[in-house]
Amino acid sequence: MKVIDMDEDQSKERKKNKDHWMREEAHLTQRVQQAINPGGEQAIARLAGQGKKPVRDLIQALIDPGTEFFELGVIAGFGMDYPGGVRDVPCGGLVTGLGKIHGNWTMIFANDSRVKAGTYFPISLKKHMRAQAVAEQCGLNCVYIADSGGAFLPMQADVFPDDGHFGSMFYNMARMSAAGLKQITLSTGGNTAGGAYIVFMADEAVMIEGLAYSFLGGPPLVKAAIGEEIEAEALGGAQVHTSISGGADHICQDQLEGVQKIREILSMEPPQQLHSHRWKDIPPKEEEEAIYEFMPAGVHQAVDVLSIIACFADGIGLQEYKHNYAPGRGDKIVTGKIRIKGIPLGVVAANNSGIIFVEAARKATEFIIRCSMERIPLLFVQNSPGYMVGSEAEHRGIGKYGADMVRAVSNAQVPKIQLVIGPDNGAANYGMCGRAYRPHFLFSTMRARTSVMSGRSAAEVLLSIEQRKRRLKDQQMSEEEAASFKAELLEKYEFEAHPFYCGARLFNDRVLYFREIRDALALALEVSLLKPIPDSTFGNFRF
Ligand code: COA
Repeated sequence: MKVIDMDEDQSKERKKNKDHWMREEAHLTQRVQQAINPGGEQAIARLAGQGKKPVRDLIQALIDPGTEFFELGVIAGFGMDYPGGVRDVPCGGLVTGLGKIHGNWTMIFANDSRVKAGTYFPISLKKHMRAQAVAEQCGLNCVYIADSGGAFLPMQADVFPDDGHFGSMFYNMARMSAAGLKQITLSTGGNTAGGAYIVFMADEAVMIEGLAYSFLGGPPLVKAAIGEEIEAEALGGAQVHTSISGGADHICQDQLEGVQKIREILSMEPPQQLHSHRWKDIPPKEEEEAIYEFMPAGVHQAVDVLSIIACFADGIGLQEYKHNYAPGRGDKIVTGKIRIKGIPLGVVAANNSGIIFVEAARKATEFIIRCSMERIPLLFVQNSPGYMVGSEAEHRGIGKYGADMVRAVSNAQVPKIQLVIGPDNGAANYGMCGRAYRPHFLFSTMRARTSVMSGRSAAEVLLSIEQRKRRLKDQQMSEEEAASFKAELLEKYEFEAHPFYCGARLFNDRVLYFREIRDALALALEVSLLKPIPDSTFGNFRF
């Protein structure tokens, strides 16, 4: 009888979880729709009037027929509140992502002229730099579908002068080109001033007659500077640059012809090689959809991470490392080898409450070093609110062993991927390969919450500081005041830790639906393994 009750409870719980995550992911779908369709039908009609297609249609025509474009940073740019009343920059005004061209993974960039003429806001630049960094790290050719009014002029100080600003786009192009990574531009719109370099810096550039312009100063500036009156086409159109200046190489009559030209140029590229053995793909032990049931609805509820891994790892299962080590402490991180679609990798997964004890930190460090020596990639499944605190943990060296884990993660030269499925706070963000540790890809999910500490902890810390300040001034804080102080902070932290806030600012590369996890990880592994894996050296540990 009791067993039946437990089963019923469990299946109710699972249904509750599933309903919860389906609702949460419906919000994600809404956000994605806002990102990919700025301006709605009216904007599409305006594009058509200009002889242009929406950027994703162009990208679909560029990549191999029947393949999918894997977009990065889709929900970037929402709620940015830039000067001049610009609250949202849907998709950062720039589409970036991975697509196959003649079987080779390629990084694709495309300005969305529906968003303020494709001009570059700080978030657009961050997105451009991130995609270039992925391309460089993974050794990918780049295609730029350029249609941009250049810098968003009201914010010039935030997009022009610094490292990581406009000039860095071209610095990166030059360096990647020197490293043998092709930089190809299809110019389908305005490319003015600094923006013109996207055409002129390319290894090979295609321009569309009557649509594409490229000049260091547009007609109004030319008139003001030297009094010359000239039309855009005659100043820097496709004919000018392909037949007079030599700044571009091919002229096409429309966007689709231009896209085909890019495919033709890249058809000479040698096939990429995977630097890993790939075994047969064996479907996972659990249905991929079961993640929705296994993932607890509460962000701070304990997770059985083995059940989650079983939904995305190949059916050979997890070859666990040090399974028996320090029960109740060592098992707060699960380590072991799995395969995803035949590619072997090491997994470091925060388990249960995810609080990292000394034993778990040591085990993880050992495992990270081992995978680096064996040259197999690492997946960090992040669900940790932090390292254990308190005198016992401190005296046993949690700071030191946490730091060892951070050292191992920093120096591991194997491809690293982070997947956030829960709390992602404090130093656990470092040890589990957060953004600063340059994972090749960082994926989030609707259950992720990334912040320096939980809202509750931050509220307690700040409240105690505030109360101390007031005591020094002989002032009191009433209970109501303290409660509203805490509530305000809690709300701020919940808001800022949310995947929408983090995705808007590109703290992650993509917010995945749970059902996408296996495919996305397989793709990320494949792309990350296109470059040979170098040796790892680790510096001084304090074991
Ligand atoms: N900075 C800020 N806003 C800009 C901008 C820029 N560089 N370029 C365009 N915009 C804005 C426009 O003000 C307009 O805003 P609105 O929708 O709020 O009215 C929006 O982007 C669309 O511009 P529009 O000119 O209507 O688009 P278009 O498709 O007809 O023309 C361009 C596109 C790029 C040819 C044209 O906008 C242009 O020449 N822009 C200036 C380019 C320039 O000189 N850049 C130098 C920067 S390095």
